[in-house]
Amino acid sequence: MASFFLEFAAEQRLQLPLLVTPETCSGKTYIVTGANTGLGYETSKHLVNCRAKKVIMAVRNLEAGETAKAEIESATNNRGIAEVWSLDLSSFDSVKSFAKRVNSQLDRIDAVIENASVAHDRWSTVEGYEASTTINILSTFLLAVLVLPKLTEVAKRYGNLPHLTIVTSGVAFTAKEAMDRIRDNPLAGMNDPTTTDMNKRYPLTKLFQHYAGRHLATLVPVSKTGVVVNLVNPGLCKTKLSRNSKFSRWLEIYITNLLVGRSQEMGSRPLLHASMAGAESHGRYVSSCEIKEHQVPEWVKGEEGRKLGERIWNDIAVELEKIEPGCLDRVLRH
Ligand SMILES: NC(=O)c1ccc[n+]([C@@H]2O[C@H](COP(=O)([O-])OP(=O)(O)OC[C@H]3O[C@@H](n4cnc5c(N)ncnc54)[C@H](OP(=O)(O)O)[C@@H]3O)[C@@H](O)[C@H]2O)c1
Repeated sequence: MASFFLEFAAEQRLQLPLLVTPETCSGKTYIVTGANTGLGYETSKHLVNCRAKKVIMAVRNLEAGETAKAEIESATNNRGIAEVWSLDLSSFDSVKSFAKRVNSQLDRIDAVIENASVAHDRWSTVEGYEASTTINILSTFLLAVLVLPKLTEVAKRYGNLPHLTIVTSGVAFTAKEAMDRIRDNPLAGMNDPTTTDMNKRYPLTKLFQHYAGRHLATLVPVSKTGVVVNLVNPGLCKTKLSRNSKFSRWLEIYITNLLVGRSQEMGSRPLLHASMAGAESHGRYVSSCEIKEHQVPEWVKGEEGRKLGERIWNDIAVELEKIEPGCLDRVLRH
């Protein structure tokens, strides 16, 4: 335990490389979800600063998005690059409309950075599921499957190795016991307030992202699609992620952040790295700007974990098919 914390603290203090430059961004289009604040904001700001061709800032609150865009334009002095598009992950219709707009209005796409998430520790429901299950899991993978065929098409046209980067977290690996309680019926378990302690809800949604993201990657190999699907951990960062948490939880995160937290800007660097990492990052865990599969526990990446990932993916897939019939066939047709 002590060695784990020492490794974590040392990693948190690393000065991470900033890998985007005007050369790497030239002519490229990026989509960043949850772009109005936190890591999504800093990621968008770097991309605008490096004069990408287009940066779609996907936000649930358009006014907040326009304010963020104005701040970025004024700080970078680069106008006409960022666009604010509406995306509310608590509404499946909103996700479908957003994906439709992406698929019809964008020509080339270089990366979709699925950054938006919530950390709820109080029970509420949207779209028939506990809210963070809807936002962090179902809508995140709904958006993934709705844009993957477009990314494959873009890859074939431009040969540009587009990325679908899911922003997850290392805290997921603290949720083993919570997962063990629902492993026989994972998605239904997420929708039962008696099976999952809300304190473990956020790590558990992030663990679902690992399992489902790793399995999805096996279904869409880069060799066939020309698209990289990877999972990135930004590390612990001083953002407002815990704003909806109970006071005790908020305080714990606040103090840990004071000791070892990364700045928002530093936390955006792993996202930028993952969105341009090589094909070897496909289906892998990327952290501190490196592939860190050795940090993924055996119970996630080993044979048992692979089986559970398939089970979790199948649960999610059933729901996605109800929301958008035929969406999975389109992803698998590559
Ligand atoms: N901060 C950390 O220490 C840390 C550590 C590991 C992983 N992460 C991950 O990093 C990512 C970014 O987190 P952050 O720290 O930057 O948190 P944040 O400051 O709370 O930003 C989260 C973003 O997600 C958006 N969002 C929330 N619900 C949404 C919805 N229903 N539809 C669309 N967008 C929604 C938020 O929009 P509003 O402003 O409108 O709420 C905000 O733009 C998350 O995936 C998080 O799990 C963070």
